Amino acid sequence: MRESIVLDIKDLKSHFFTAKGVAPAVDGVSIQVPAGKIIGVVGESGCGKSMTAMSVMGLLRYPGRVVGGTITLDGRDITHLSAKELSKVRGNEISMIFQEPMTSLNPVYPVGKQVREAILLHQKVSKAEAKERVVEIFRAVGIPEPEKRYYNYPHQLSGGLRQRVMIGMAMVCRPKVMIADEPTTALDVTIEAQILRLMKKLCEEQGTSIILITHNMGVVAEVCDYVYVMYAGKVMEQAETFELFDHTSHPYTRGLLNSIPRLDEKARRLHTIEGVVPNLLHLPEGCSFCTRCSEAKKRCFVERPDLYQVGEEHKVRCFQYEGEA
Ligand SMILES: Nc1ncnc2c1ncn2[C@@H]1O[C@H](COP(=O)(O)OP(=O)(O)OP(=O)(O)O)[C@@H](O)[C@H]1O
Ligand SMILES: [Mg+2]
Repeated sequence: MRESIVLDIKDLKSHFFTAKGVAPAVDGVSIQVPAGKIIGVVGESGCGKSMTAMSVMGLLRYPGRVVGGTITLDGRDITHLSAKELSKVRGNEISMIFQEPMTSLNPVYPVGKQVREAILLHQKVSKAEAKERVVEIFRAVGIPEPEKRYYNYPHQLSGGLRQRVMIGMAMVCRPKVMIADEPTTALDVTIEAQILRLMKKLCEEQGTSIILITHNMGVVAEVCDYVYVMYAGKVMEQAETFELFDHTSHPYTRGLLNSIPRLDEKARRLHTIEGVVPNLLHLPEGCSFCTRCSEAKKRCFVERPDLYQVGEEHKVRCFQYEGEA
């Protein structure tokens, strides 16, 4: 990638130390986020998307722990910052929209005040000025009557408005990077599209980069510049969005793409990849996808493939592509 990289995640490893054994939830993940771009991270449930995000935010909790790799934000290594140093970075230079908005808003405070607190925590401005900025960002994220909504409690807002508050909160300090973990899955399709377009527009205006975590390949096609496909804690394929859709290479990615519901099909059915995601405590000896892969050869069951370069911006973790480029 030629653009300047704002967030550089290198060989990140986060493990869960459970009574039954060590689960490698994030197992050597490298993701590069260029300035002002939207990076999609996709994969089935349990593949490590949220744990990658939580590791970057320094929010992984016991029994989970970052055990390897580096996280560099705008040239600064933030992998091992103290809690105090990290709290200056989080919400300010890098922010996150969580998978469940209801649990991340405090039910007993008006939403406007909660966003105002986020500003006061990081920036030296008066309360009045901070309030003005909240109203401004509420307007920017499409909340009608922002001055009035400022005083509303979370339960007085619809799901769509709450999600807009969360986006406003994540963007109000103009972070360099925003991680959005399934920000729209709970919303209906029209609102989902509106909110995603809004995030894309704000990102372009402010030069904020976004890591967008989603199950939805349709969403990826619409807003992402670059895509990482994860499976069992590893990146299986990565490419520019057009390249990924035009030259889908990993059998797992092909499976995911087939699972987009096809509106043109007679009986609108959802294809899913056969089999289940393997238990992280009992991963196959070879490729983690081998037990579900229709193209698996003998070697795939005993050896682990690397990520092979197949094009300028395209890598695939599958022996079929070894020595390709
Ligand atoms: N508290 C925990 N203890 C043990 N293992 C955990 C714990 N939390 C997560 N994991 C492991 O981490 C793996 C990755 O979880 P993660 O939440 O990152 O998945 P995800 O890709 O975000 O899935 P989803 O799409 O459902 O949100 C899980 O499969 C699970 O094995
Ligand atoms: Mg998740």
